[in-house]
Parts: sequence; structure tokens; C-alpha cells
Amino acid sequence: MHRLLFVLMLALPSLSTAQGHIPIIFDTDFVMPPQDDSLALMLALQSPELEILGITTVAGNDSVERATSDVLRMLEIANHVEIPVYVGANMPLVHEVSDFAVVNHGNWYSDESPPMPPGGFASKEAEDETAVSFIVRTVMDNPGEVTIVALGPLTNISQAIRAESAFAANVKQLIIMGGAIALLPDGAGNITPNAEFNFWVDPEAARVTLRSGIPIELSPLNVSRKSGLTKDWYEEMVAIENALTILLAETLGERFEQAPDQSWYMYDQIAVASLIDPSLVTSEPLYVDVNIDHGISYGVSVGGRNIWPGAEGAVQMNVQYDLDWVRFIEMFIERVQRPLTAKE
Ligand code: RIB
Ligand code: CA
Repeated sequence: MHRLLFVLMLALPSLSTAQGHIPIIFDTDFVMPPQDDSLALMLALQSPELEILGITTVAGNDSVERATSDVLRMLEIANHVEIPVYVGANMPLVHEVSDFAVVNHGNWYSDESPPMPPGGFASKEAEDETAVSFIVRTVMDNPGEVTIVALGPLTNISQAIRAESAFAANVKQLIIMGGAIALLPDGAGNITPNAEFNFWVDPEAARVTLRSGIPIELSPLNVSRKSGLTKDWYEEMVAIENALTILLAETLGERFEQAPDQSWYMYDQIAVASLIDPSLVTSEPLYVDVNIDHGISYGVSVGGRNIWPGAEGAVQMNVQYDLDWVRFIEMFIERVQRPLTAKE
């Protein structure tokens, strides 16, 4: 290679040094507030440490069409129409719709048209490129520099892992909101007795992803349950008006009118906050694997301090199990209340 070209290439700033931020891909089964994905995106958008390279949508809380429609509108409200949105998987890899799925949380199988978001449907449109293509291209163009924040079923992530054999080795870190670890306190499930929703919607994708060798920070229900958004914290959050807190007042406010004594877990918000300030959470390294047998434990995640029979393919990862709640909620409120500034 010509010497001058070689010197020029060395001088090229990498993604993270160029902007001084943590470049991320935000993968989400997004729904407008009061759903946690939207509050997690508010935190990410209001945090200068994070550079959102793109948002990828996946079916989970609702259909991928709803996730896409709502997140496009949220970016308009948040003054960030510059961030591209890529449509991802509309169904899990294997999990079939069941009567149980229809009766319980999540509308991932819905083929209904998305409802109108607050303020009307976005004029911003999603990109033509698929979510998997964007995820693979972005990681491979920036080896070792991109962090993926995965807040829904892991369908898109698992497909990216399988689309490109070198992908896993080139992801800097994967922050996952998902799973529940019985070994640690507060480890029960939330959709079945022992399964967490994101892993239960797509257990096969979760297993492929956890076994991929990507450095993983897992934010399971164990740490989610150390949070509690109550009416008092909500009222502090909306005390300073901007387009985000006005939206929260219109949506989350209704929930607290109906149930003033309710306290809400902040699942996805904690995952994002732990990337911004890792000192907010306490983790321990565990081998974690996911059950894909189509029986009573479908989608259950199991964590152990050593490999156990049947988990020979499991990989060690950081598992979050405790949270500095007050420091977290105060950081969340302070950032969501900041004046909205579009990134250059
Ligand atoms: O189990 C909690 C997870 O399921 C969160 O990501 C929430 O948004 C839902 O997707
Ligand atoms: Ca989610």
C-alpha cells in the first residue's frame, strides 16, 4: 500500500474518537409512552455521550409496523429527524402465535394498522434498507466501535449474527434488556412463571445471541425490579416543560390518574442508563443460556457461576442485579428535562 495512503489511513479518526461519543445502534420493540422503550429513547436522545447511528425496529410489545410508526413520530417530537430508522423482523424466528400469547402482554403478531401516534403520523419515513442489512453494514464498516442496545426480542440481532460470520467479532458490546435469573434475587419471569417477555417472544434468537461471543451486558428483570417510578417521581419529571415531558404528561399522566399508588418498573431505561454510567448498576459474571424446548420453560434464561450439564455452549457475560435507584432516577429526570437540541 502506498506510504502516503497508509499514513492518511492512520490519521482517519475512528467513529468514537471523531465524535467523542459512544456510537450505538438502538434496537427496539418501540411503543409511545407509557411504554418503557420510548422513555429509554428519550434518555438516549438527551444524553450527549451517546451517538445514535440508527434505530432498528422489531415486533414485540406490538407489531413492527407500530414500532416503526411510533418511533418515527417520536423522532419528530424530539427534534431528531436526522436519525435514520430501519424496519426489522415482523415475527420471531420460530415462536408461533398461541391463545396464551393473544391473552397476555404483547401484540407482536398483530397485522392491524398502527394507531395514530400523538400529534398524527410522522412525515419522516423509514429507510429502504432493512434493519439487518443496516446493523451488519454499520458494524463491519466500524470494526470494534459500535455498541448495540437491544431492548426488544433479539430477532434482528440473531439474524445479523447469522448473516455475516465475522459480525460477532466486530461488535464492541451488546447491552440487552432481557432475561430473568433465578440464581439471583428477584429472578422470576414476567410473561410465564420463569420467562421474561423479550426472551420468551423469541427464545431461539436469544439463545443464538447469548452464545455468539459478543461481549454482553445483560440487564434482566432482577435489576429492573430495583426500580419504581411512582407518582411523586413522575410529577418531578414533568415539572419542567419541553416536548418530551409534555408527551409524558399526556400519556404517563393518564396512568397515574387511573392508578395513583402504582409503581412502574423502568426496564429499558436502566439498560440505556447502565451504558451511560456503569456505576449505576451492580453486576456479576455468569454463564447464561436460554431454553428453546417448546414446553413449560420455553424462553427461560438460566444463569450459573459454572457450566452445568446441557449448557456446554453457554458463554459468560456481565449480569446486572442491583441499581442505585435514586441516582438513576435523578439522572433520568435531569436529562429528559433538558432543552431539546438537535445533534449537528
Ligand atoms: O420484560 C420487559 C421487556 O419487555 C421490556 O423491554 C419491555 O419493553 C418489553 O419489551
Ligand atoms: Ca422493550
